[in-house]
Amino acid sequence: MIGEDLLKASEILKRGELVAIPTETVYGLAANALDPSAVAKIYEAKERPSFNPLIVHVASIKEAKKYVKEFPEIAEQIAKAFWPGSISLLLPKHSIIPDLTTAGLPNVVIRVPNHPLTLELLKSLDFPLAAPSANLSNTVSPTTAEHVQLGLGSKIDYILDGGKSAIGLESTILAIKQDKLVILREGGVSREDILAKIGIKVGVNFSNKIQSPGNLKKHYSTSKPLYIVQDINKHIGSNPNGRYSALLFEEKKVLCKSHILSKTYSMSEIANNLFDYMRRADNDNSDCILIEPIKEIGIGRAIADRIVRASSKI
Ligand code: TXA
Ligand code: MG
Repeated sequence: MIGEDLLKASEILKRGELVAIPTETVYGLAANALDPSAVAKIYEAKERPSFNPLIVHVASIKEAKKYVKEFPEIAEQIAKAFWPGSISLLLPKHSIIPDLTTAGLPNVVIRVPNHPLTLELLKSLDFPLAAPSANLSNTVSPTTAEHVQLGLGSKIDYILDGGKSAIGLESTILAIKQDKLVILREGGVSREDILAKIGIKVGVNFSNKIQSPGNLKKHYSTSKPLYIVQDINKHIGSNPNGRYSALLFEEKKVLCKSHILSKTYSMSEIANNLFDYMRRADNDNSDCILIEPIKEIGIGRAIADRIVRASSKI
């Protein structure tokens, strides 16, 4: 039987209003993807520029196929291997998807999220859900219902609480170019995972801004400055007057307050804690946040991407 929280979420979405939904990556701010006036409310609540398109969420591969013009063989391979899960596919959109959802672009980014509540919710609806991360534009993405409440609580009708997001980083976005897979955004599933699971090597294409306009340089920002430094203790040694807070990837003695993302340099643990601990460091009594570069292997690349953007001043 469908629970009361799901009934409430479903009823609000059917009215064309907003609901924050849990996913395994981050919380999403959801509305009926087929209804331009509902979708407009997402842009408004997030203060998101209208040129930045939204990801569409569906319950199954079969549903996904309803909203795209074609679903090539390689998309089928990815979907079968990773859905429900943290890969989003860029595919030519069906005309039933309004232009506002894709910010006027001819393609739609679509995925089946891996969260039991949200899958159940999607199954109870006869429309897909457009859902960008449920935070104000350019701020840190939310991985708990509480994060959503803090950032957007006054602007949305309901938050469906599904606990802490299991992955903690947004989905990996893949495009298909001449029958080959290209990464538009590093995310919860790494290139190595894809190679290991289906034997396909994924290429990289970060230069094409129009392909993924949300890949803005400055993103995921804390309100105090975040600096990437080669060695935290050396940095503090040569700049002893600051009040620092360090984000660490393993247990280590540092000369300032620290937040330990993982005791053992576990990439999945670091990913899972990153946004939450960025918020904690933002709220402690330091003036700035220090972090060392992360090893760029596996989902380390997605973590590095988020940290570099968070540290960008422009
Ligand atoms: O894990 C995720 O993907 C989360 C959860 C909620 O599903 N969603 C998410 O959405 O991260 P958002 O809006 O924060 O990031 C979506 C990214 C943006 O960079 C956007 O520009 C890009 O996907 N994108 C969405 N639709 C697109 C399209 N039609 N063409 C190109 N890029 C697109
Ligand atoms: Mg986002």
